[in-house]
Amino acid sequence: MNIIFLGPPGAGKGTHAQKLMNELEIPQISTGDMLRQAIKAETELGILAKGFIDRGELVPDEVVIGIVKERLAQQDCQKGYILDGFPRTVPQAEALSQFAKIDCALNLSLADEVIIGRLSGRRVCLKCGATYHTSTLNGRTDCAACGDELVQRKDDTPETIQNRLTVYAAQTAPLIDYYQEKGMLRTVECTGTVEENHRAVRKALGVE
Ligand code: AP5
Repeated sequence: MNIIFLGPPGAGKGTHAQKLMNELEIPQISTGDMLRQAIKAETELGILAKGFIDRGELVPDEVVIGIVKERLAQQDCQKGYILDGFPRTVPQAEALSQFAKIDCALNLSLADEVIIGRLSGRRVCLKCGATYHTSTLNGRTDCAACGDELVQRKDDTPETIQNRLTVYAAQTAPLIDYYQEKGMLRTVECTGTVEENHRAVRKALGVE
């Protein structure tokens, strides 16, 4: 199954994509993680992307389209994949339709007030991509999956979160209508616990 995870920052795209990746044994393709890894490695892509990400703006379409196209051509994507954070603009969605056959776009929906609380408490592992929240870490500062140090993302500050929400509303939310019109959209309200939301995600995808 080839799945797109849509939704505002902090709705839980990464959280549910990681769980589903293990359950369905298909890769999670997170453009955000790919860009952060490039920044960490100080590659040409990382140097270009850093300013956009730190300000909460989108990296230019042609750059992101290129890295996704290359990634989907790899062998591990042949049995399916979860696109987490791509597409994020209508031009990205149109480009994707030229090189991929998508089965479903799952819209994870959540109100801005809840998002701000989730993102300000988020801690991530830059090595393996695992995501946590301070409310469940009990003071732990290392990654339960790989032992690396957990950090707060630079774009999880209050001003940048606000800018990301504005950018989402202007540039990414139109994809909800875009996929609705194509009959590919399913929506999950992500107001419950991680476990409750994940059951709803599986149900919406028909993988109960
Ligand atoms: P990206 O990394 O994709 O960030 P995002 O879309 O802003 O989404 P987030 O990762 O912030 O949130 P999420 O929905 O994955 O939530 P999570 O599961 O972590 O992109 C970052 C940047 O890269 C962009 O701003 C842009 O600059 C660039 N970029 C990326 N893709 C691009 C593209 N296609 N085009 C152009 N630029 C691009 O959950 C959040 C927190 O909530 C966590 O702490 C989690 O533990 C907690 N949580 C989750 N569910 C629950 C729950 N049910 N109850 C309580 N806590 C919960």
